Amino acid sequence: MKGVFVTGTDTGIGKTLVSAWLAQHWRADYWKPVQTGALEDSDSDTIAQLAPDARIHPPAYVFKAPLSPHEAARREGARIDLSALIPPAVPGPLVVEGAGGVMVPLNELALMVDLMERLKLPAIVVARTALGTINHTLLTLDLLRRRRVPILGVVLNGQRNPGNRQAIEQFGAVPILAELQPLLAVTAKVIAGLPPPAFHMPES
Ligand SMILES: Nc1ncnc2c1ncn2[C@@H]1O[C@H](COP(=O)(O)OP(=O)(O)OP(=O)(O)O)[C@@H](O)[C@H]1O
Ligand SMILES: [Mg+2]
Repeated sequence: MKGVFVTGTDTGIGKTLVSAWLAQHWRADYWKPVQTGALEDSDSDTIAQLAPDARIHPPAYVFKAPLSPHEAARREGARIDLSALIPPAVPGPLVVEGAGGVMVPLNELALMVDLMERLKLPAIVVARTALGTINHTLLTLDLLRRRRVPILGVVLNGQRNPGNRQAIEQFGAVPILAELQPLLAVTAKVIAGLPPPAFHMPES
């Protein structure tokens, strides 16, 4: 399978924006395995707007509460079963978007990184550029390495910060794949106008 797993250092860090950017430029399919906060706009809905040509595969689990997956599931008397999180079989590339970051619990035992380990897709870590990012990004990379999840690199999202970029490259020993600036409007057209990814969708 050809694809990437888009994770991040936090919730609301830009994973969906980065997924839309990749889906548009790579003509990739999109899959969010677990969606919480389903009463608000789902990430799949956002991708449908931001990457209108992308084929979107429905999540395996959808929960109403805008909470960590383990808790959102529990409130509905449900439990996320990792073996039910099977990526759609697609001929082309697939962009998979996590929920929150790598240590978000999926059930009473498993974390998001356990799913990433199972799927074996190379990870893209979306990180902010602002203060705090060095710590969050290095912690995320460290866990992924210890769990032998292949790391494609980091996408920095926000106002340029060369010092933080350099520290993440140096201490994280990781390529910075792209830097996305703050956008005045987040639309399909604006995303289409961004420079295309200067890296390839890897064969997994
Ligand atoms: N570079 C940017 N310029 C302008 N707005 C941005 C940028 N990056 C992210 N945003 C906005 O910030 C919000 C959060 O981004 P996004 O939904 O991509 O985060 P996420 O990591 O996918 O969150 P979640 O954990 O809920 O999946 C969105 O409204 C998005 O449009
Ligand atoms: Mg998202």
